[in-house]
Amino acid sequence: MNSLYQSSIKSLPLLGHGKVRDNYAVGDDKILIVTTDRLSAFDVVMNEPIPGKGMVLNQMSDFWFEKLGHIVPNHLTGVAPESVVAADEVEQVKGRAVVAKRLKPIMVEAVVRGYIIGSGWKDYQATGSICGIELPAGLRQAEKLPEPLFTPAAKAELGEHDENISFADMESRIGAELAAKMRDISIKLYTAAADYAATRGIIIADTKFEFGLDENGVMHLMDEVLTADSSRFWPADSYAPDMSPPSFDKQFVRDYLETLDWGKTAPAPALPADVIDKTQAKYFEAIERLTGQKLKA
Ligand SMILES: Nc1ncnc2c1ncn2[C@@H]1O[C@H](COP(=O)(O)OP(=O)(O)OP(=O)(O)O)[C@@H](O)[C@H]1O
Ligand SMILES: [Mg+2]
Repeated sequence: MNSLYQSSIKSLPLLGHGKVRDNYAVGDDKILIVTTDRLSAFDVVMNEPIPGKGMVLNQMSDFWFEKLGHIVPNHLTGVAPESVVAADEVEQVKGRAVVAKRLKPIMVEAVVRGYIIGSGWKDYQATGSICGIELPAGLRQAEKLPEPLFTPAAKAELGEHDENISFADMESRIGAELAAKMRDISIKLYTAAADYAATRGIIIADTKFEFGLDENGVMHLMDEVLTADSSRFWPADSYAPDMSPPSFDKQFVRDYLETLDWGKTAPAPALPADVIDKTQAKYFEAIERLTGQKLKA
């Protein structure tokens, strides 16, 4: 398994390093997105790669783009990543990169919640609603919501956390028509994905989509889609309400970090080898469970 902590593609202009992905310009209308093996927990990037994690994430995204392509167009171009880099850089992109249409990002993230957990649960406990959407009384932590909720968030500047906004605020930022379209498509995407995942024993508790506009103003799904990094996946067989179910993939890392006296700010503590190994195995299990196929290495 070739592992990649940070890419270094010299033949293309670097657009930036995200926490997990490295982005490069391909001409002026496309981007190369390389998913590395970096792992972030509590929003801090760990120092060790989880070998193969980037491939798993990339292949999960590809899987969903294909499966959900009938609902909305997406940013994939079909151009092989190997064809846009130099010969000695091919190893860095194999199985873990896409060449995408460079879109104009819509500066609102589309969060869909099927279950009440995380910041949604905190919000509900304090206000009886999530992001201003009123909910029935008596919901339990991690309970399935009566119907999926669309809770937009304003895209944060680098290093800041995304900020939940009301739907009315979203309308005033991007226009009512586009806001409604984004909401309706996001709910459709989530519902189709959650229904499929249920047949594979996986609960998709919530997820975040990003959209962009092409040169004709057509809305496209972009970024990563329904990966373990952008969603909460729970194994259905151990799911129960009244607790925060362990996430499918980061459970060992989070559990380990919780045993430490660490302030959850950078720098990250070193991860022991067995935590890395178990985490890697979880990612491989996740892609297999989801797609029914082993990771294509
Ligand atoms: N097809 C696309 N066209 C234009 N921008 C895109 C496209 N796909 C993704 N992006 C944007 O590229 C940016 C970089 O992505 P990335 O996720 O690597 O970093 P980040 O969002 O800054 O950090 P992180 O997600 O690690 O917290 C994001 O703002 C994302 O919305
Ligand atoms: Mg991102």
